[in-house]
Order: sequence, then structure tokens, then C-alpha cells
Amino acid sequence: MPEGRTLKGKTLEGKTAVVTGGSRGIGRGIVERLCRDGAHVLFNYASSHAAAEDVVRQVGDDGGKVRAMQFDLTEPDAAERLMREAEAELGGLDILVNNAATAFVPTPLADVEPDLFDRVMATDMRSVFVMLQYAARRMRDGGRIVTVSTLNTVHAAPGIAPYAASKGAIEQLTYVAARELGVRGITANVVSPGATDTDLLRGTNPPEALEMAAAMSPLGRLGEPSDVADVVAFLVGPDARWLTGQNVRATGGIT
Ligand SMILES: NC(=O)c1ccc[n+]([C@@H]2O[C@H](COP(=O)([O-])OP(=O)(O)OC[C@H]3O[C@@H](n4cnc5c(N)ncnc54)[C@H](OP(=O)(O)O)[C@@H]3O)[C@@H](O)[C@H]2O)c1
Repeated sequence: MPEGRTLKGKTLEGKTAVVTGGSRGIGRGIVERLCRDGAHVLFNYASSHAAAEDVVRQVGDDGGKVRAMQFDLTEPDAAERLMREAEAELGGLDILVNNAATAFVPTPLADVEPDLFDRVMATDMRSVFVMLQYAARRMRDGGRIVTVSTLNTVHAAPGIAPYAASKGAIEQLTYVAARELGVRGITANVVSPGATDTDLLRGTNPPEALEMAAAMSPLGRLGEPSDVADVVAFLVGPDARWLTGQNVRATGGIT
């Protein structure tokens, strides 16, 4: 039987996973897919209790194992506490998906206030650093790390300076993790979505921008959370064992 396969056919049976920002959008899609593949998943969210409960109910109805915890990653020690509690709850760490990002009104570089910069950096960058550091110390050998970035690190857009900066930084952190942790069989990769139909996208773009984004894809539509989640599921599964330090652009062909 190929390495990592189980007789039950679920590629992630017996694996544990932490997913940040699992209550909505792409993170929810990732939680649902990893649970379907047999992983025991713990996800966090910032404030959407009802949405998080809905994910837990849905996954539970489908026979999956999932747990939600509220941790606002802008708080200085939240990322560390999340990892500690997740490790204790799950009994070890096999998979980490850094997905959460904070939404903000697009703001020209000249007008970015320090508070906005700090909030974006805390959620989108500092928490990823802390969680990668925790994984470097505690993740089981053969583990999997996926960091969700964005096409915007190669396709710059106005108004998103702190976001683009944080995403550039977490890509680099992930590549360093790939170099450092490979010796233990741990892979670390980046998935960079293009325009994906979520609250974040709809809340920060007018309808005409969404139409334009859909038209830019050879496939002629916006991405769905499941389009990205399926790529993440491949990268954390056994078939991606020989891929590390890569950036997979899940953009529907927009380059
Ligand atoms: N959608 C796109 O077009 C697109 C394109 C490129 C990259 N991405 C990336 O894909 C990832 C997911 O984006 P999305 O569109 O799915 O976003 P979303 O729909 O806004 O969902 C964001 C998730 O992150 C959580 N979150 C936000 N701020 C947080 C904080 N301070 N502490 C803890 N959790 C927090 C939210 O929790 P609550 O529900 O509690 O708020 C929610 O679960 C992000 O990394 C984003 O940069 C998205």
C-alpha cells in the first residue's frame, strides 16, 4: 500500500490538524474538506460564534471530528495559546494551515494609520510566525504546513499595502520552515488564491471589480472556497510528500 494510505481510504485518517479562521470562507472550506478526509480538526475564529457553531454542526452531521475555539489573533498571546490548547486537545500536531486574515477597507499607502498596520501585521503575519515557531518545536515528524497567501504578492494592487506586506512575509517564513523542517519529513508550502467568493472578497470589492476578476480567469468565474480547499487537502495529504517550499497559485489561471 502506498505510504500514508489507509485501508479505510481516508487519506488523513488518524491525523490531527489546526486551521486558523475556519468559521467562514476558504478556512471553512478547508476545515470541511480535511474532516471529510478523516482528520481531527481544531479551528479558531475571531468573533463569529454562530458561523463557527454551524461548521461544527455540519461536520458532526457528516460524521467528522471537529472542535472550534475562539482566539482573536490580534491579541499578543493568542496564537501561542491556540497552539498549546490545540496540541493538548488533539493529542499532537500533524497539520497546520495558516489561513486567517483580517479584513480592512482598502486604504492608500499615504493614509494607512499605525493602528491599521499593526492589526493587519498581528493577524496576518505575527500569528503565523508564532504558529510556525510552535510547529517547528512540537509538530510530529512527517507533518504538513500550508500557509495561505494571495496572488497579490506577485500581482500588486492599490490600497492593500499592509496586507501585501504581511503576505510576502509569511511566504518567506514558510520557505524557511520548509528548509529547516524537511529533515524531519515535514513539508511547508504556500497556497496563493486568486479572487475567491467569500465575505472578505465581497466586503472589499465593488461588484464590477468582481466581474472583472471573474473575466480575468480562463475559466471565466470567481473561485469557490472549495476550489482552494481541495488544493490545500492535496498538499497536506500523502500524495504531496515530495513537494515542499512551493507556492501553488490556486487562481483559476490568473497569473
Ligand atoms: N477571498 C479571496 O479572494 C482571497 C484571495 C487571496 C487570498 N485570500 C486569503 O485566503 C484566506 C481566507 O480568506 P477568506 O476570503 O476566506 O476570508 P473571510 O471570509 O473574511 O474569513 C476570514 C476568517 O479568518 C478569521 N479571522 C479574521 N480575523 C481574525 C482574527 N483577528 N483572529 C482570528 N481569526 C480571524 C475569521 O473569523 P470570524 O468569522 O470570527 O471573523 C474567518 O474565519 C486569507 O488568508 C486571505 O488573505 C483570500
